[in-house]
Amino acid sequence: MPVPPSARPNSAGGQHPIPSTMMAVTSRRYGDADALGLESVPVPTPAPGELLVRVMASSANALDWHLVTGTPLFVRLVMGLRTPKRLIPGADIAGIVEAVGPDVAGFDRGDRVFGESAGGGFAEFATIRAALVVPLPPSVDFVAAGATPVAGLTALQALRTHGALKKGDRVLINGAAGGVGTFAIQIARALGAAEITAVCSAGNAEQARVLGATRVIDYRREDYITVGGRYDVVLDMQGNRTAAQIRSILAPGARFVAVSGPMTNRWLGPVLHLFRMGVALRWADASFHQFTAAANADDLNYLGELLTTGQLVPAVERTVGLDGAAAAIAQIASGHGAGKIAVVPSAPGVPAAPAEPSEPSR
Ligand SMILES: NC(=O)c1ccc[n+]([C@@H]2O[C@H](COP(=O)([O-])OP(=O)(O)OC[C@H]3O[C@@H](n4cnc5c(N)ncnc54)[C@H](OP(=O)(O)O)[C@@H]3O)[C@@H](O)[C@H]2O)c1
Repeated sequence: MPVPPSARPNSAGGQHPIPSTMMAVTSRRYGDADALGLESVPVPTPAPGELLVRVMASSANALDWHLVTGTPLFVRLVMGLRTPKRLIPGADIAGIVEAVGPDVAGFDRGDRVFGESAGGGFAEFATIRAALVVPLPPSVDFVAAGATPVAGLTALQALRTHGALKKGDRVLINGAAGGVGTFAIQIARALGAAEITAVCSAGNAEQARVLGATRVIDYRREDYITVGGRYDVVLDMQGNRTAAQIRSILAPGARFVAVSGPMTNRWLGPVLHLFRMGVALRWADASFHQFTAAANADDLNYLGELLTTGQLVPAVERTVGLDGAAAAIAQIASGHGAGKIAVVPSAPGVPAAPAEPSEPSR
C-alpha cells in the first residue's frame, strides 16, 4: 500500500510538508483552451512504479491541445469518449521527487528529475512513471528541463532514430519556429549536419539563424520546393506539400520524416494524408518515416547531455504561471507558437531551484 504523500516529510527535511491539495489546471470537458479551469484538487498518490514529483516547470505542447480539445476525434477512444480521462494536461515535467511509489528503484526523495508523462504537469505536484524520467544534470535549470521532453524527444527521434542523420547531411526543417522545430535545428547541428535549412515566417528567421540554421526560407515569400536545394533529411511538421513536390527535393537515399500533417479530417486528423504520402513515396529513391514520439531513458539522458554542454538551449519565448497555461495552449492552437512557453506552478514556500542540487542517483 503506498503511503499517502501527505503523511510523508519531503526532501527538505519536512520544512515543506506535502499538502493534501494543490492548484492545478483542469480539463473536465473537451473544448477550446477556455474550457480549462484552475482549481484545487487532491495531491495524487504514486501508484506502483510511479514517483510523486513537485513540479518546478512544465511547458505547453501541441499534445496538450489534442488532449484538451479531444481532436482528432479518434483520440477519444484512448483519451475518454465523453470527457477527458486525464484531468490535468501538461506532458512535460521537471521537478523534485517528493515520494517514491512501490516497486521503484534508483530514485530517492530530493532527486531532481525530468521526463514526459501522459499529462499532469500543469499542477504543483504530478505522478509520473519512473521509467519515463531521468535525473536532471546539476547544471541544467528547471525551466530549460521542463521545456524539453516532448518537443526535444520528437526532434531527436525524428532526426536521429528515423532520419538516421549523419555528419555532413543536408537537412530541411519545415516548421522550424515552433517547439519541435527549434529543438530540431539545434539537434541537427549537434549531430553534425552540414547544411540546415529552416522554413519559418520572417519574424522567426533571426531566431532560426541563432539556433544554427545555415539558410532560412520565409514560407510567406518563397516556396521551399521551388527555391532550389536537395536534402538528405527532410523533417516536415506541416504536411502542406504533395508527394511529387517532396520527391523533387529529396537527394538519392534521403529520409523524409513526417511528424504531423494537416488536420483536415475531423475524425482522423492527418492520418489519411500521412498514409497517402507513405504510399506515394514507396517508389522513390528515399524512405518515408512517420512516428509518434515516445519517452525513453536513453533519449532523455542524451537531451540532458546536450543541455549540459549548451548544445541545446530551449527557445523559451516566455514563462507563465498555471493561470497562463490556457493562453499558452491557445497560442499553439493558432498554428504560430514561437519556440516554447514554459509553465511554472510556483508552489508556495518552495525556492525556484534547490541551493544544493542532489546528485543524480542512477
Ligand atoms: N509525431 C509526434 O510524435 C509529434 C510530437 C510532437 C508534435 N507533433 C506535431 O508536430 C507539429 C509541430 O509541433 P510543435 O510543437 O512544433 O508546434 P508549434 O510549437 O505550435 O509550432 C508550429 C510552427 O509552425 C509554423 N508554421 C505555421 N505555418 C507554417 C507554414 N505554412 N510553413 C512552415 N511553418 C509554419 C509556425 O511558425 P511561424 O510562427 O513562423 O509561422 C509555428 O512556429 C504539430 O502538428 C504537432 O501535433 C507530433
